[in-house]
Amino acid sequence: MDARNIGLRNIEVADTKICSIDGENGKLIYRGYDILDLVKHSTYEETAYLLLFGELPTADALADFNRRLVEARGIPEPLIKILKNRPRRAQPMDVLQSCISELADYDLNIEDNSKEAHMRRAITLIAKIPAIVTAWNRVRNGQHVVDPLEKGSHSANFLYMLRGVEPSAEEAKVLDICLILHAEHSFNASTFAAREIASTRAHMYACIGGAVGALSGELHGGANVQVMKMLQEIGEPANVDKWIANRLQSGGRIMGMGHAVYRTTDPRADVLARLSARISREKNNKWYEITKRAEDLTQDWMKKNKGQVIYPNVDLYSASLYYSMGIPMDLNTPIFAISRIAGWSSHVIEEKFAEAAPKPVLYRPKAVYVGKYCGPMGCEYTLISSRQEQTT
Ligand SMILES: CC(C)(COP(=O)(O)OP(=O)(O)OC[C@H]1O[C@@H](n2cnc3c(N)ncnc32)[C@H](O)[C@@H]1OP(=O)(O)O)[C@@H](O)C(=O)NCCC(=O)NCCS
Repeated sequence: MDARNIGLRNIEVADTKICSIDGENGKLIYRGYDILDLVKHSTYEETAYLLLFGELPTADALADFNRRLVEARGIPEPLIKILKNRPRRAQPMDVLQSCISELADYDLNIEDNSKEAHMRRAITLIAKIPAIVTAWNRVRNGQHVVDPLEKGSHSANFLYMLRGVEPSAEEAKVLDICLILHAEHSFNASTFAAREIASTRAHMYACIGGAVGALSGELHGGANVQVMKMLQEIGEPANVDKWIANRLQSGGRIMGMGHAVYRTTDPRADVLARLSARISREKNNKWYEITKRAEDLTQDWMKKNKGQVIYPNVDLYSASLYYSMGIPMDLNTPIFAISRIAGWSSHVIEEKFAEAAPKPVLYRPKAVYVGKYCGPMGCEYTLISSRQEQTT
C-alpha cells in the first residue's frame, strides 16, 4: 500500500461540523470557536454544550444543562458494589471501560434510538464518568465513596469526589481549563473508534467503551501516564540530559512529544505549559523544570539527528500539572476521558444522525492482502498428519 496512507494518514473518511485542526498553524477549533477563546472565556460545561448542540448556549440553556449534569452525577449503588469486588490492582482505564458498559444496564430506554435519547445518554455519561473514576480511586485505597456535590462546577465536583474535600476556586479553574483543552480533537484514534462502532448502529455505551479502550494506549491518551513515569525516572533536573540522550540514541520515544497532525506547537501544550510552570512554582517543585529541559533537548536532538522538529503535545505538560495538583499518576488518562466524553458523544451523535449528504455508512476500509509464502490466493490444505515444521 501507499506509505503515505498507513494508519489512514491523509485519508478523508467523513465530513464533520464538530472540530477542525490546522496542524500547520497550530490552531484548534471547536464548532467554529478557537480553543484559546474558549479557554479564556468559557467553562467545561459550556464547551460540552457547544460540542453537543453545535451552538453556544443562552444563560437559560446553560443553567438547564448544568442542572441536568448535576442531577446525573451519582452512579448506581450496584456499580459501587461491583467496584468493591474488583482486585485493587485493576487499572483505572479498565475499570472505567467496564463500568461504561455496565451503565447500559441502567438505561431504561436502551432501545430508544432517537437523537433525544442519545443526547440524554451523552449528558448522563459526561456527568457519571468523574464519579466512576473517583469512586474507583477511593475504593482501591480503602476509602468510602463520597456522594457528588449538589452544586458547583464539573471540575470542582471531580476534585471533591476524589478527595472528599472541596477544592479552592483557583484549583477548580485550573482543572476546568484542562477539561476544555482535552474535550475534542477531531478524528484521533479514540474518536474514530467511537464513530466506527457507531457506524454499526451499536448503542452509545458500546461506542464510548470502545473509545476508552483506544484512549488507554500509550501512543494516545496513555502517553500522559508514561510522561510522568519518565519524569520520575529522571528524578532530578541534573539527570535530564543524560536520560534523554540515552533514550533517543537507543531509538526510544519521548512520550508527550510529537503529533500525527501538528507540525508546529500544539496550542493546548502552550496553555498547559504555562499552567504547569505556575503550579510547579507555587508548590516549589522540580517537575516543570525537568519537563521543559526534556522538551528542549528532544527538539535539539531531533533537529540534529533526524532533520525534523517535533513539538510537545497535550500530554507533556498535563503530566507534571496533574502530579503537582496531587492527582494520582494513573488517573491522568481517566481525566482525559472525563473531558473527551463531550467530544466522543458529539461524534457518535453526528455519526448516527448526520443530516447533510454524504450520510455516514458502515465503516469498512480495505486492506492490501499481501499473502504469505505460498502465494496470495491461498495454500493447498495438508492433513495434520503430513504437516511438517515450516522454515520460512
Ligand atoms: C504521536 C505519534 C505516534 C505521532 O506520530 P507520527 O506523526 O505518525 O510520527 P511517526 O510515528 O511517523 O514519527 C516520525 C518520526 O519522528 C520520530 N518521533 C515521533 N515522535 C517521537 C517521539 N515522541 N520521540 C522520539 N521520536 C519521535 C519517529 O521515531 C519517526 O522517526 P523515523 O522517521 O526515523 O522513524 C508520535 O509522535 C509518538 O509516538 N509520540 C509519543 C507518544 C505520545 O506522546 N502520544 C500522544 C499523542 S497526542
